[in-house]
Amino acid sequence: TTQPEIRKGLVGVYADVSAISKVMPETNSLTYRGYAVQDLCENCCFEEVAYLLWNGELPTRAQLDAFRREEAANRALSPRLLKAIEGFPHDAHPMDAIRTAVSLMGMEDPEVADVSEAATRRKAMRLLAKIPTAIAAAHRFAKGLAPVAPDPGLSFSENFFHVVFGKVPQPEVVKAFDVSLILYAEHTFNASTFTARTIASTGADIHAAITGAIGALKGPLHGGANEAVMHMLEEIGEPENAVAWLEGRLDHRALVMGFGHRVYKSGDSRVPTMTKYAERMAEVVGDRRWMEISRILAAEMLRRKNIHPNLDFPAGPAYYLMGFEIPLFTPIFVASRITGWAAHVLEQMADNRLIRPLSWYTGVEQRPVVPLAQRG
Ligand code: CMC
Repeated sequence: TTQPEIRKGLVGVYADVSAISKVMPETNSLTYRGYAVQDLCENCCFEEVAYLLWNGELPTRAQLDAFRREEAANRALSPRLLKAIEGFPHDAHPMDAIRTAVSLMGMEDPEVADVSEAATRRKAMRLLAKIPTAIAAAHRFAKGLAPVAPDPGLSFSENFFHVVFGKVPQPEVVKAFDVSLILYAEHTFNASTFTARTIASTGADIHAAITGAIGALKGPLHGGANEAVMHMLEEIGEPENAVAWLEGRLDHRALVMGFGHRVYKSGDSRVPTMTKYAERMAEVVGDRRWMEISRILAAEMLRRKNIHPNLDFPAGPAYYLMGFEIPLFTPIFVASRITGWAAHVLEQMADNRLIRPLSWYTGVEQRPVVPLAQRG
């Protein structure tokens, strides 16, 4: 009856094996199915990476074409779902809107109750295809605008801009966005992925698992950090304010968003790639301010606290420079991470054991119930 060692936050605990991705903190590296993420960013599009995560191998040209055709063909939402999204509170956070929309997609999915691998793969594809349409529709309705119908002739990333803004920007911008999706696609047993696997381990369907995962991603310690980073940069406003702002923050022992990581302690391999593309966005837009503030913060955090930035740090300003409103940043993370979540749901289902850990009780000793009439 002595308390066993508790790894609060499951720090350092291996909860299962997985063949999807590998984080190597000693070299700050991350591979998906054996390929370094930087390598994937330079040589592949997001759809190729989605195919890789779901199938274990990169597609051939014919396989990629078929995957793209299927994704493009599934983008439209049902009139009922569009109507439901139109009825969402217009001041709702877009993460709550996409969480609810995904839950509704489950209710109307023709195969919702079929948890076989084949049906789960088809449902994953429908989720991948429909999530951008739902994010954009909720966003546009909230602004009093009509939704834009998805265009099956566009790539996944081009279409994302199309449904949000009604137009596709120049290829450099689309490429930077596509790179961010590749970098966000998968990251081992993070909180949202573990949530998805926990839900799948009960025998529940993929829509249940993804709805829960979106809930987990919302928090500022996880996906919500990319929005928090941009709020922080806006609050700082100008490069000359950065050092004093940071000092004030650290004096109060407050978190600086976009820094630190549970697994990487000496740098996140995704950061240099995303920073390169965020810098490119700054050049395209002609606004260097945010990247300049970012550079100062990163240098000062390293000097004072020896803490490195994580992917959310460059992704926040990159999305801002692409023209997205801040509350859309974490939903964009959802549009990408659905690929990793679905891969993990499939892996969990293929070799399932209910996830059910223990807790060590520290409450009051056992005692008799005093009947209501005698309680004073
Ligand atoms: N700002 C200030 N101090 C920090 C930060 C930060 N961002 N991150 C860690 N520290 C401090 C922490 O307070 C602790 O100090 P002390 O030893 O005095 O208590 C020390 O550094 C070590 O912390 P840790 O044990 O490495 O932290 P953790 O593994 O429990 O938490 C984290 C990891 C990501 C939750 C945390 O670093 C954090 O809250 N960062 C800010 C939010 C953020 O950027 N989240 C995105 C995470 S990565 C991508 C994603 O999932 O979206």
